[in-house]
Amino acid sequence: MRVLHVAVEVFPVVKTGGLADVMGALPQALIGAGADVRLLVPGYPAVLEALQNSRVVRDLGAMFGAARVTLRLGRLAPVGVETYVVDAPLLFARHGNPYLDSDGLEWPDNLQRFALLGWVGAHLGSAELDAAWLPHIVHSHDWHAGLACAYLAAQVATPARSVFTVHNLAYQGLFDARDFVLLGLPARFMASSALEFHGQLSCMKAGLVFAHRVTTVSPSYAAEMATDAFGCGLDGVVRSRGSAVTGILNGVDPAVWNPATDMAIAQTYSSSAMRGKAQCKSALQKALGLRVDGSAPLLAVVSRLTSQKGLDLILAALPALLAQGAQLAVQGSGDRDLERALVTVAAAHPAQVALRLGYDEAFAHAMVAGADVMLLPSRFEPCGLTQLYALRYGTVPLVRRVGGLADTVVAVGGPAAAATGFVFEAVNGEALAQAVAQAVALYRIPAAWQALRRRGMRQDFSWSRAATQYLALYQDLLTDGGG
Ligand code: ADP
Ligand code: GLC
Repeated sequence: MRVLHVAVEVFPVVKTGGLADVMGALPQALIGAGADVRLLVPGYPAVLEALQNSRVVRDLGAMFGAARVTLRLGRLAPVGVETYVVDAPLLFARHGNPYLDSDGLEWPDNLQRFALLGWVGAHLGSAELDAAWLPHIVHSHDWHAGLACAYLAAQVATPARSVFTVHNLAYQGLFDARDFVLLGLPARFMASSALEFHGQLSCMKAGLVFAHRVTTVSPSYAAEMATDAFGCGLDGVVRSRGSAVTGILNGVDPAVWNPATDMAIAQTYSSSAMRGKAQCKSALQKALGLRVDGSAPLLAVVSRLTSQKGLDLILAALPALLAQGAQLAVQGSGDRDLERALVTVAAAHPAQVALRLGYDEAFAHAMVAGADVMLLPSRFEPCGLTQLYALRYGTVPLVRRVGGLADTVVAVGGPAAAATGFVFEAVNGEALAQAVAQAVALYRIPAAWQALRRRGMRQDFSWSRAATQYLALYQDLLTDGGG
């Protein structure tokens, strides 16, 4: 089965969050399960640099505001997957964040940029661009690739079936309705049953409405997306798709996240030889300027700093956390207000609170390995990868019961033989502080703590399990046609 994955991020070449981690691992897992998989990504400078043995598949001329668009095919070296690249210098030859300019603002031509990506995805699906490789499935990820589903639906005869995966419903790719003309889609696509969303044009809706199947990255989030509380205004659309919407949990790439082989941590370790973890902890305390103290529970956060991630709950609970003798280490970047608030508390408690602003892949590994507890007090979380990495590294996750967090962490307090972490419900600092108190109490009982983290380290969150589920979904879709 030939499957084309269309996405903007792919680890380690272009990354702002978990989408990249998924795209860096899922194609390989699908290949391992027997599928013939290729990627389609925009020609960012980092992508073109990483592309090996590439050749031009098509010269597409001027399109979507780009003077010249060339479709290349090569091997994206660090990912090891055959990859089509949309080489359009006027649209993509920009360094840094794939979506935003250096002031953090959306690029004004984002609609054209991601329409071009979707257009190419759809036309690869109809054999118009590369007759030598016709995908059975065009699988698009998040709003940036959502238009591929609309372009496929607009074609008269479309052999390929489309799958759309929602990684985060909160980012919807909304544009001025007047820009619809730039897309070159038939006028009927600008209806409320199609791309129109409260007077705007929604790329997320293009995927939700037109894909033959919609998936998201956990079963709980699949159910949540259909509710008013989590649907971000699109819950009605999600509900209208009924059983075409399902959830498949993300996995962990053991080539990247494995404490036994990780070169970015102070000392490697495994569930049967844990001594290295204590060294990782003291190295982290030292690197962050915290008091080097093996007995102080070290709580960590590695996260985008947005309201989604609930950092304000940690700020609200901070006095209680510090009173329990805990240390807090935060690595992240994002909202300026949250950054400022964190700077203030770190300055006020230098021995107990440390902050690393910015994006640093290697240091994220040091944080995950060195911490005792990983905090994820998210308001919503489609899947969440950090809690999975924490589990693998014997760092106990403490999470809100929501989305993928609820699906991957089993709460202490239930059947003792299954627990892997701490779980709280209410969106407030008190509930978080209570869960931290529970964690700190257990941390003070070494045998119980060791058993808990060992159980976490032995959980199976492999990509091969996810790949099997995606393949079954593709097969099912090809059998029933996606009617
Ligand atoms: P999301 O995609 O919503 O940000 P995930 O938990 O799925 O959340 O994925 C986050 C990914 O980004 C993880 O690989 C995490 O380690 C990484 N990450 C987040 N913030 C940083 C940071 N400041 N520096 C390095 N890596 C980060
Ligand atoms: C999104 C979600 C996150 C998920 C990631 C990868 O960024 O916020 O929960 O893990 O996508 O699917």
